[in-house]
Amino acid sequence: MSKQVDTPDARNGISIETLRSEFPMLAKSVNGVPLVYLDNAATTQKPWSVINRMIRFETDEYATVRRGSYKLGEAATDEYEKARDKVARFVGTDDSREIVFTSGATQSINLVAQSYGRKFLSEGDEIIISHLEHHANIIPWQVVCEDTGASLKVIPVDDNGDLLMDEYAKLLNGNTKIVAVTHVSNALGTINPVKKIAAMAHDAGAVVLIDGAQSAPHMRVNVKDIDCDFFVFSGHKMYGPSGVGVLYGKFDILKTMPPYVTGGEMIETVTFEKTTFVEPPLRFEAGTPPITQVIGLGAAVDFIRDCGFEKISLYENDLLEYGTSLLQGIDGLKIIGNAKEKSGIISFTLDTVHPHDLVTILGEEGIAVRGGHHCAQPAMRRFGVPATARASVSFYNTHEELDALAEGVRKAMEMFS
Ligand SMILES: Cc1ncc(COP(=O)(O)O)c(C=O)c1O
Repeated sequence: MSKQVDTPDARNGISIETLRSEFPMLAKSVNGVPLVYLDNAATTQKPWSVINRMIRFETDEYATVRRGSYKLGEAATDEYEKARDKVARFVGTDDSREIVFTSGATQSINLVAQSYGRKFLSEGDEIIISHLEHHANIIPWQVVCEDTGASLKVIPVDDNGDLLMDEYAKLLNGNTKIVAVTHVSNALGTINPVKKIAAMAHDAGAVVLIDGAQSAPHMRVNVKDIDCDFFVFSGHKMYGPSGVGVLYGKFDILKTMPPYVTGGEMIETVTFEKTTFVEPPLRFEAGTPPITQVIGLGAAVDFIRDCGFEKISLYENDLLEYGTSLLQGIDGLKIIGNAKEKSGIISFTLDTVHPHDLVTILGEEGIAVRGGHHCAQPAMRRFGVPATARASVSFYNTHEELDALAEGVRKAMEMFS
Protein backbone atom coordinates (compact mmCIF):
# COMPACT_ATOMS: atom_id res chain seq x y z
CA MET A 1 0.00 0.00 0.00
CA SER A 2 1.41 3.40 -0.90
CA LYS A 3 2.17 6.01 1.70
CA GLN A 4 -0.05 9.07 1.47
CA VAL A 5 1.67 12.00 -0.14
CA ASP A 6 0.94 14.53 2.54
CA THR A 7 4.15 16.31 3.17
CA PRO A 8 3.74 20.06 3.69
CA ASP A 9 4.66 20.68 0.07
CA ALA A 10 2.22 18.10 -1.35
CA ARG A 11 0.01 20.98 -2.43
CA ASN A 12 2.54 23.74 -2.84
CA GLY A 13 3.08 24.14 0.87
CA ILE A 14 -0.63 23.89 1.75
CA SER A 15 -1.59 21.21 4.29
CA ILE A 16 -4.60 19.02 3.55
CA GLU A 17 -6.53 20.59 6.44
CA THR A 18 -5.93 24.10 5.14
CA LEU A 19 -6.76 23.08 1.60
CA ARG A 20 -10.00 21.39 2.66
CA SER A 21 -11.00 24.37 4.78
CA GLU A 22 -11.07 26.41 1.59
CA PHE A 23 -13.99 24.29 0.32
CA PRO A 24 -17.10 24.97 2.43
CA MET A 25 -18.98 21.95 1.06
CA LEU A 26 -16.30 19.58 2.36
CA ALA A 27 -17.21 20.50 5.94
CA LYS A 28 -20.79 19.29 5.45
CA SER A 29 -22.31 16.33 7.26
CA VAL A 30 -24.81 13.93 5.75
CA ASN A 31 -26.90 11.79 8.09
CA GLY A 32 -24.70 12.96 10.94
CA VAL A 33 -21.47 11.77 9.32
CA PRO A 34 -18.93 13.89 7.45
CA LEU A 35 -19.52 14.08 3.72
CA VAL A 36 -17.06 11.97 1.72
CA TYR A 37 -17.21 13.54 -1.70
CA LEU A 38 -15.90 11.19 -4.39
CA ASP A 39 -17.93 12.31 -7.40
CA ASN A 40 -15.45 14.80 -8.80
CA ALA A 41 -15.73 13.53 -12.37
CA ALA A 42 -19.37 14.65 -12.30
CA THR A 43 -18.68 18.02 -10.76
CA THR A 44 -16.17 19.47 -8.30
CA GLN A 45 -16.71 21.56 -5.19
CA LYS A 46 -15.78 25.23 -5.20
CA PRO A 47 -13.23 27.00 -3.02
CA TRP A 48 -14.06 30.24 -1.19
CA SER A 49 -11.84 32.17 -3.59
CA VAL A 50 -14.18 31.29 -6.47
CA ILE A 51 -17.38 31.78 -4.45
CA ASN A 52 -16.17 35.08 -3.01
CA ARG A 53 -15.05 36.39 -6.38
CA MET A 54 -18.54 35.81 -7.75
CA ILE A 55 -20.22 37.34 -4.70
CA ARG A 56 -17.99 40.42 -5.00
CA PHE A 57 -18.80 40.77 -8.67
CA GLU A 58 -22.55 40.39 -8.08
CA THR A 59 -22.68 42.72 -5.07
CA ASP A 60 -20.09 45.35 -5.90
CA GLU A 61 -19.16 45.30 -9.57
CA TYR A 62 -22.14 43.94 -11.50
CA ALA A 63 -22.93 45.35 -14.92
CA THR A 64 -23.29 43.85 -18.35
CA VAL A 65 -20.32 43.48 -20.69
CA ARG A 66 -19.46 44.93 -24.10
CA ARG A 67 -22.37 47.39 -24.06
CA GLY A 68 -22.17 50.06 -21.41
CA SER A 69 -19.57 52.72 -22.02
CA TYR A 70 -20.12 53.84 -18.45
CA LYS A 71 -17.51 53.04 -15.83
CA LEU A 72 -19.13 49.94 -14.31
CA GLY A 73 -19.76 48.40 -17.70
CA GLU A 74 -16.20 49.02 -18.80
CA ALA A 75 -14.81 47.50 -15.60
CA ALA A 76 -17.07 44.42 -15.97
CA THR A 77 -15.90 44.01 -19.57
CA ASP A 78 -12.28 44.26 -18.41
CA GLU A 79 -12.82 41.54 -15.81
CA TYR A 80 -14.59 39.33 -18.35
CA GLU A 81 -11.76 39.71 -20.85
CA LYS A 82 -9.16 39.19 -18.10
CA ALA A 83 -10.79 35.81 -17.45
CA ARG A 84 -10.43 35.02 -21.15
CA ASP A 85 -6.71 35.86 -20.96
CA LYS A 86 -6.30 33.62 -17.90
CA VAL A 87 -8.06 30.71 -19.61
CA ALA A 88 -5.92 31.19 -22.72
CA ARG A 89 -2.71 30.93 -20.70
CA PHE A 90 -4.20 28.02 -18.73
CA VAL A 91 -4.50 25.90 -21.89
CA GLY A 92 -1.23 27.11 -23.37
CA THR A 93 -2.11 29.72 -25.97
CA ASP A 94 -1.17 33.39 -25.79
CA ASP A 95 -3.87 34.35 -28.30
CA SER A 96 -7.05 35.07 -26.33
CA ARG A 97 -9.03 35.26 -29.57
CA GLU A 98 -8.78 31.46 -29.55
CA ILE A 99 -10.94 31.18 -26.41
CA VAL A 100 -14.73 31.12 -26.83
CA PHE A 101 -16.92 31.05 -23.73
CA THR A 102 -19.83 28.61 -23.97
CA SER A 103 -22.17 27.05 -21.43
CA GLY A 104 -20.02 23.92 -21.08
CA ALA A 105 -18.17 21.13 -22.88
CA THR A 106 -21.45 19.87 -24.36
CA GLN A 107 -22.23 23.19 -25.99
CA SER A 108 -18.63 23.58 -27.18
CA ILE A 109 -18.79 20.26 -29.04
CA ASN A 110 -22.21 21.07 -30.51
CA LEU A 111 -20.83 24.40 -31.68
CA VAL A 112 -18.01 22.72 -33.59
CA ALA A 113 -20.25 19.97 -34.98
CA GLN A 114 -22.90 22.39 -36.18
CA SER A 115 -20.68 25.24 -37.34
CA TYR A 116 -17.54 23.52 -38.67
CA GLY A 117 -19.29 20.23 -39.46
CA ARG A 118 -22.17 21.63 -41.47
CA LYS A 119 -19.88 23.90 -43.44
CA PHE A 120 -17.10 21.46 -44.23
CA LEU A 121 -18.69 17.97 -44.27
CA SER A 122 -20.46 16.31 -47.15
CA GLU A 123 -21.57 12.89 -48.39
CA GLY A 124 -18.81 10.30 -48.09
CA ASP A 125 -16.81 12.16 -45.44
CA GLU A 126 -15.93 10.40 -42.21
CA ILE A 127 -15.72 11.42 -38.56
CA ILE A 128 -13.74 9.28 -36.12
CA ILE A 129 -14.56 9.09 -32.42
CA SER A 130 -13.59 6.42 -29.86
CA HIS A 131 -15.50 3.73 -28.02
CA LEU A 132 -14.85 5.60 -24.77
CA GLU A 133 -16.71 8.81 -25.52
CA HIS A 134 -19.19 10.59 -23.30
CA HIS A 135 -22.56 10.98 -25.07
CA ALA A 136 -21.68 14.66 -25.46
CA ASN A 137 -18.95 13.63 -27.90
CA ILE A 138 -21.09 11.08 -29.76
CA ILE A 139 -24.53 12.53 -30.39
CA PRO A 140 -23.52 15.92 -31.88
CA TRP A 141 -21.51 14.00 -34.50
CA GLN A 142 -24.36 11.59 -35.19
CA VAL A 143 -26.67 14.53 -35.77
CA VAL A 144 -24.27 16.25 -38.14
CA CYS A 145 -23.71 12.96 -39.99
CA GLU A 146 -27.45 12.68 -40.57
CA ASP A 147 -27.56 16.25 -41.85
CA THR A 148 -24.55 16.02 -44.17
CA GLY A 149 -24.30 12.39 -45.30
CA ALA A 150 -21.00 11.91 -43.48
CA SER A 151 -20.48 8.70 -41.48
CA LEU A 152 -19.19 7.92 -38.01
CA LYS A 153 -16.29 5.51 -37.36
CA VAL A 154 -15.28 4.28 -33.93
CA ILE A 155 -11.81 3.46 -32.55
CA PRO A 156 -12.17 0.23 -30.54
CA VAL A 157 -10.62 -0.37 -27.11
CA ASP A 158 -8.91 -3.40 -25.60
CA ASP A 159 -10.05 -5.17 -22.43
CA ASN A 160 -8.07 -2.77 -20.26
CA GLY A 161 -9.71 0.28 -21.76
CA ASP A 162 -6.77 1.38 -23.90
CA LEU A 163 -7.52 2.60 -27.42
CA LEU A 164 -6.36 0.22 -30.15
CA MET A 165 -4.07 2.59 -31.97
CA ASP A 166 -3.41 0.16 -34.85
CA GLU A 167 -7.14 0.05 -35.50
CA TYR A 168 -7.22 3.84 -35.38
CA ALA A 169 -4.49 3.94 -38.02
CA LYS A 170 -6.58 1.65 -40.22
CA LEU A 171 -9.65 3.88 -39.88
CA LEU A 172 -7.82 6.99 -41.08
CA ASN A 173 -8.02 7.72 -44.80
CA GLY A 174 -8.52 10.53 -47.27
CA ASN A 175 -12.21 10.76 -46.33
CA THR A 176 -11.49 11.40 -42.65
CA LYS A 177 -12.41 15.03 -41.96
CA ILE A 178 -12.73 15.17 -38.17
CA VAL A 179 -11.25 13.15 -35.31
CA ALA A 180 -12.99 13.85 -31.98
CA VAL A 181 -11.62 11.98 -28.99
CA THR A 182 -11.72 12.37 -25.25
CA HIS A 183 -8.49 13.20 -23.42
CA VAL A 184 -9.56 11.25 -20.33
CA SER A 185 -12.46 8.78 -20.24
CA ASN A 186 -15.06 9.81 -17.66
CA ALA A 187 -16.26 6.19 -17.46
CA LEU A 188 -12.92 4.37 -17.01
CA GLY A 189 -10.25 6.99 -16.36
CA THR A 190 -8.13 6.04 -19.40
CA ILE A 191 -5.76 8.82 -20.46
CA ASN A 192 -5.63 8.74 -24.25
CA PRO A 193 -2.44 9.54 -26.22
CA VAL A 194 -3.94 12.70 -27.68
CA LYS A 195 -0.74 14.12 -29.10
CA LYS A 196 -0.21 11.00 -31.18
CA ILE A 197 -3.90 10.87 -32.13
CA ALA A 198 -3.70 14.47 -33.34
CA ALA A 199 -0.50 13.92 -35.33
CA MET A 200 -1.97 10.88 -37.09
CA ALA A 201 -5.21 12.75 -37.86
CA HIS A 202 -3.31 15.69 -39.30
CA ASP A 203 -1.27 13.36 -41.52
CA ALA A 204 -4.59 12.18 -42.94
CA GLY A 205 -5.73 15.79 -43.42
CA ALA A 206 -8.36 15.80 -40.66
CA VAL A 207 -8.98 18.35 -37.92
CA VAL A 208 -8.89 17.24 -34.30
CA LEU A 209 -11.19 18.00 -31.39
CA ILE A 210 -10.12 16.91 -27.92
CA ASP A 211 -12.76 16.62 -25.20
CA GLY A 212 -10.84 17.87 -22.18
CA ALA A 213 -13.74 17.84 -19.68
CA GLN A 214 -11.91 15.30 -17.51
CA SER A 215 -8.33 16.38 -18.18
CA ALA A 216 -8.32 20.16 -17.81
CA PRO A 217 -8.88 20.04 -14.01
CA HIS A 218 -6.27 17.36 -13.35
CA MET A 219 -3.25 17.73 -15.61
CA ARG A 220 -1.39 20.50 -17.36
CA VAL A 221 -2.88 20.91 -20.81
CA ASN A 222 -1.00 22.58 -23.61
CA VAL A 223 -3.09 22.83 -26.76
CA LYS A 224 -0.08 23.93 -28.81
CA ASP A 225 1.92 20.92 -27.70
CA ILE A 226 -1.00 18.53 -28.37
CA ASP A 227 -1.51 20.44 -31.61
CA CYS A 228 -5.28 19.92 -31.52
CA ASP A 229 -7.52 22.20 -33.53
CA PHE A 230 -10.24 22.34 -30.88
CA PHE A 231 -10.19 21.63 -27.14
CA VAL A 232 -13.30 21.79 -24.95
CA PHE A 233 -13.98 21.74 -21.21
CA SER A 234 -16.44 22.81 -18.49
CA GLY A 235 -16.02 25.22 -15.56
CA HIS A 236 -17.93 23.14 -13.01
CA LYS A 237 -15.52 20.20 -13.22
CA MET A 238 -12.54 22.43 -12.40
CA TYR A 239 -13.62 24.12 -9.17
CA GLY A 240 -15.51 26.82 -11.06
CA PRO A 241 -19.22 27.47 -11.51
CA SER A 242 -21.69 25.60 -13.69
CA GLY A 243 -23.13 27.34 -16.73
CA VAL A 244 -19.77 28.21 -18.25
CA GLY A 245 -17.40 26.27 -20.44
CA VAL A 246 -14.71 26.81 -23.02
CA LEU A 247 -14.05 26.12 -26.65
CA TYR A 248 -10.42 26.60 -27.63
CA GLY A 249 -10.02 26.73 -31.41
CA LYS A 250 -7.08 27.64 -33.62
CA PHE A 251 -7.85 31.17 -34.74
CA ASP A 252 -7.32 30.44 -38.43
CA ILE A 253 -9.96 27.71 -38.21
CA LEU A 254 -12.43 29.63 -36.03
CA LYS A 255 -12.23 32.45 -38.59
CA THR A 256 -13.59 30.16 -41.30
CA MET A 257 -16.58 29.03 -39.23
CA PRO A 258 -20.08 30.51 -39.42
CA PRO A 259 -21.93 31.48 -36.22
CA TYR A 260 -23.69 28.72 -34.30
CA VAL A 261 -26.12 30.87 -32.32
CA THR A 262 -27.06 34.29 -33.64
CA GLY A 263 -28.31 37.46 -31.97
CA GLY A 264 -26.89 40.46 -30.19
CA GLU A 265 -23.22 41.33 -29.80
CA MET A 266 -21.86 39.08 -32.55
CA ILE A 267 -22.51 41.37 -35.50
CA GLU A 268 -20.79 44.13 -37.45
CA THR A 269 -23.89 45.43 -39.22
CA VAL A 270 -27.50 44.33 -39.47
CA THR A 271 -30.00 45.31 -42.11
CA PHE A 272 -33.18 43.48 -42.99
CA GLU A 273 -31.41 42.22 -46.09
CA LYS A 274 -28.12 41.04 -44.61
CA THR A 275 -26.02 40.73 -41.47
CA THR A 276 -22.26 40.63 -41.22
CA PHE A 277 -20.53 39.07 -38.26
CA VAL A 278 -17.59 40.06 -36.10
CA GLU A 279 -14.43 37.99 -35.82
CA PRO A 280 -14.08 35.16 -33.29
CA PRO A 281 -14.37 34.74 -30.40
CA LEU A 282 -17.32 37.18 -30.15
CA ARG A 283 -18.88 35.72 -33.31
CA PHE A 284 -19.66 32.68 -31.17
CA GLU A 285 -20.86 34.51 -28.05
CA ALA A 286 -24.28 35.79 -29.09
CA GLY A 287 -26.45 37.37 -26.42
CA THR A 288 -25.59 38.30 -22.85
CA PRO A 289 -22.96 35.80 -21.71
CA PRO A 290 -22.76 34.15 -18.27
CA ILE A 291 -20.73 37.11 -16.95
CA THR A 292 -20.45 36.14 -13.29
CA GLN A 293 -19.65 32.54 -14.17
CA VAL A 294 -16.89 33.56 -16.58
CA ILE A 295 -15.32 35.71 -13.88
CA GLY A 296 -15.71 32.80 -11.42
CA LEU A 297 -13.96 30.54 -13.93
CA GLY A 298 -11.08 33.02 -14.03
CA ALA A 299 -10.83 32.70 -10.23
CA ALA A 300 -10.85 28.88 -10.54
CA VAL A 301 -7.93 29.09 -12.97
CA ASP A 302 -6.07 31.26 -10.44
CA PHE A 303 -6.81 28.70 -7.73
CA ILE A 304 -5.47 25.78 -9.78
CA ARG A 305 -2.42 27.78 -10.82
CA ASP A 306 -1.67 28.66 -7.19
CA CYS A 307 -1.87 24.97 -6.20
CA GLY A 308 0.34 23.91 -9.11
CA PHE A 309 -0.36 21.09 -11.55
CA GLU A 310 2.74 19.10 -10.68
CA LYS A 311 1.54 18.85 -7.09
CA ILE A 312 -2.06 18.17 -8.10
CA SER A 313 -1.03 15.29 -10.38
CA LEU A 314 1.35 13.82 -7.82
CA TYR A 315 -1.27 13.85 -5.12
CA GLU A 316 -4.14 12.59 -7.27
CA ASN A 317 -1.98 9.75 -8.62
CA ASP A 318 -1.27 8.74 -5.06
CA LEU A 319 -5.00 8.71 -4.30
CA LEU A 320 -5.67 6.66 -7.43
CA GLU A 321 -3.04 4.08 -6.48
CA TYR A 322 -4.22 3.90 -2.90
CA GLY A 323 -7.91 3.61 -3.80
CA THR A 324 -7.20 1.02 -6.50
CA SER A 325 -5.20 -1.18 -4.15
CA LEU A 326 -7.88 -0.92 -1.44
CA LEU A 327 -10.73 -1.83 -3.77
CA GLN A 328 -8.74 -4.57 -5.51
CA GLY A 329 -8.42 -6.21 -2.11
CA ILE A 330 -12.19 -6.73 -1.86
CA ASP A 331 -13.39 -10.19 -2.96
CA GLY A 332 -16.14 -9.99 -5.56
CA LEU A 333 -15.20 -6.46 -6.69
CA LYS A 334 -14.06 -5.94 -10.26
CA ILE A 335 -12.42 -2.77 -11.49
CA ILE A 336 -13.58 -1.88 -15.00
CA GLY A 337 -10.79 -0.11 -16.85
CA ASN A 338 -7.15 -0.81 -16.11
CA ALA A 339 -5.50 1.30 -18.79
CA LYS A 340 -1.74 1.84 -18.78
CA GLU A 341 -2.25 5.52 -18.01
CA LYS A 342 -5.18 6.49 -15.82
CA SER A 343 -6.56 9.60 -14.20
CA GLY A 344 -8.21 9.51 -10.75
CA ILE A 345 -11.34 7.59 -11.74
CA ILE A 346 -12.11 4.09 -10.44
CA SER A 347 -15.08 2.35 -12.02
CA PHE A 348 -16.14 -0.94 -10.52
CA THR A 349 -18.85 -3.58 -10.21
CA LEU A 350 -19.68 -6.03 -7.42
CA ASP A 351 -20.71 -9.66 -7.85
CA THR A 352 -23.59 -9.33 -5.44
CA VAL A 353 -24.75 -5.70 -5.38
CA HIS A 354 -26.05 -3.62 -8.30
CA PRO A 355 -24.25 -0.27 -8.68
CA HIS A 356 -27.49 1.65 -8.08
CA ASP A 357 -28.10 -0.17 -4.78
CA LEU A 358 -24.48 0.30 -3.80
CA VAL A 359 -24.46 4.06 -4.33
CA THR A 360 -27.76 4.40 -2.44
CA ILE A 361 -26.31 2.52 0.52
CA LEU A 362 -23.06 4.50 0.36
CA GLY A 363 -25.10 7.69 0.16
CA GLU A 364 -26.73 6.82 3.49
CA GLU A 365 -23.21 6.71 4.94
CA GLY A 366 -22.44 10.17 3.56
CA ILE A 367 -20.30 8.80 0.72
CA ALA A 368 -21.03 10.40 -2.65
CA VAL A 369 -20.06 8.23 -5.62
CA ARG A 370 -21.90 7.88 -8.89
CA GLY A 371 -23.65 4.74 -10.12
CA GLY A 372 -24.92 4.37 -13.66
CA HIS A 373 -23.74 4.39 -17.25
CA HIS A 374 -21.97 7.74 -16.80
CA CYS A 375 -23.39 9.01 -20.11
CA ALA A 376 -21.16 6.47 -21.82
CA GLN A 377 -23.50 3.63 -22.74
CA PRO A 378 -21.34 2.33 -25.63
CA ALA A 379 -18.35 2.05 -23.26
CA MET A 380 -20.48 0.18 -20.71
CA ARG A 381 -21.70 -2.19 -23.41
CA ARG A 382 -18.13 -2.82 -24.54
CA PHE A 383 -17.31 -4.06 -21.05
CA GLY A 384 -20.51 -6.09 -20.79
CA VAL A 385 -22.02 -4.13 -17.90
CA PRO A 386 -25.13 -1.95 -17.81
CA ALA A 387 -23.61 0.32 -15.17
CA THR A 388 -20.71 0.73 -12.76
CA ALA A 389 -20.10 2.49 -9.49
CA ARG A 390 -17.54 5.24 -9.99
CA ALA A 391 -15.34 6.90 -7.42
CA SER A 392 -13.49 9.91 -8.77
CA VAL A 393 -10.94 11.82 -6.74
CA SER A 394 -9.71 15.35 -6.50
CA PHE A 395 -6.64 16.57 -4.69
CA TYR A 396 -8.81 17.60 -1.71
CA ASN A 397 -9.64 13.94 -0.98
CA THR A 398 -7.76 11.84 1.55
CA HIS A 399 -6.74 8.26 2.22
CA GLU A 400 -9.24 8.23 5.08
CA GLU A 401 -12.07 8.99 2.68
CA LEU A 402 -11.00 6.11 0.45
CA ASP A 403 -10.84 3.88 3.55
CA ALA A 404 -14.45 4.92 4.28
CA LEU A 405 -15.42 4.01 0.72
CA ALA A 406 -13.86 0.54 0.98
CA GLU A 407 -15.54 0.03 4.35
CA GLY A 408 -18.90 1.13 2.92
CA VAL A 409 -18.53 -1.29 -0.01
CA ARG A 410 -17.79 -4.15 2.39
CA LYS A 411 -20.86 -3.27 4.48
CA ALA A 412 -23.09 -3.19 1.41
CA MET A 413 -21.79 -6.59 0.33
CA GLU A 414 -22.55 -7.99 3.77
CA MET A 415 -26.10 -6.62 3.62
CA PHE A 416 -26.66 -8.40 0.30
CA SER A 417 -24.92 -11.68 1.24
C1 LIG B 1 -15.61 13.41 -20.90
C2 LIG B 1 -16.79 14.33 -20.80
N1 LIG B 1 -17.15 15.05 -21.86
C3 LIG B 1 -18.18 15.91 -21.83
C4 LIG B 1 -18.91 16.05 -20.68
C5 LIG B 1 -20.05 17.02 -20.67
O1 LIG B 1 -19.79 18.06 -19.80
P1 LIG B 1 -20.92 19.16 -19.45
O2 LIG B 1 -22.11 18.38 -18.97
O3 LIG B 1 -20.30 19.99 -18.40
O4 LIG B 1 -21.20 19.90 -20.71
C6 LIG B 1 -18.59 15.32 -19.54
C7 LIG B 1 -19.40 15.43 -18.31
O5 LIG B 1 -19.43 14.52 -17.49
C8 LIG B 1 -17.48 14.45 -19.60
O6 LIG B 1 -17.11 13.73 -18.53
